[in-house]
Amino acid sequence: KYEKIWLTFGIGCLIVFLTVVGVSAFAAGQQPPSCLTTIDPEKVDTTPPFDHPGLVKKGDDEYELNIVVAAFSFTPNAIEIPKGAKVTINVTSKDVIHGFEIPGTNINMMVEPGYVNSLTTTFDKPGEYTILCNEYCGAGHHMMTARIKVV
Ligand code: CUA
Repeated sequence: KYEKIWLTFGIGCLIVFLTVVGVSAFAAGQQPPSCLTTIDPEKVDTTPPFDHPGLVKKGDDEYELNIVVAAFSFTPNAIEIPKGAKVTINVTSKDVIHGFEIPGTNINMMVEPGYVNSLTTTFDKPGEYTILCNEYCGAGHHMMTARIKVV
């Protein structure tokens, strides 16, 4: 008889736990980086939008930032973004797996050859931000940085 009570209690706890995880995942607006687009890593330089990497105006206060990543650089490596603008960042790698992290923000993506990884963000605070590669990619890994200036 007691076993039945405990079993019910156990299942109840499990349901509560799953509900909390499910609700917080949606309510908190967790947005995992997406990688739905594929790209030939050998043709990055001739495939739009990466044939002209950089910031592109898409609308009123809306931009697209396309960055080509290769050992050991980000192209472009100095970017100016207007404060408060909605920016969709697309990244792809020409060689191995790299990282794309901006310390002090929630921006942290993997950069994979063959895929375009994207996320949309807004920089609300003006200042200088550093893009870092946080995935070991070879001898020049520690030098792989770029800068974003929010004005
Ligand atoms: Cu690129 Cu580490």
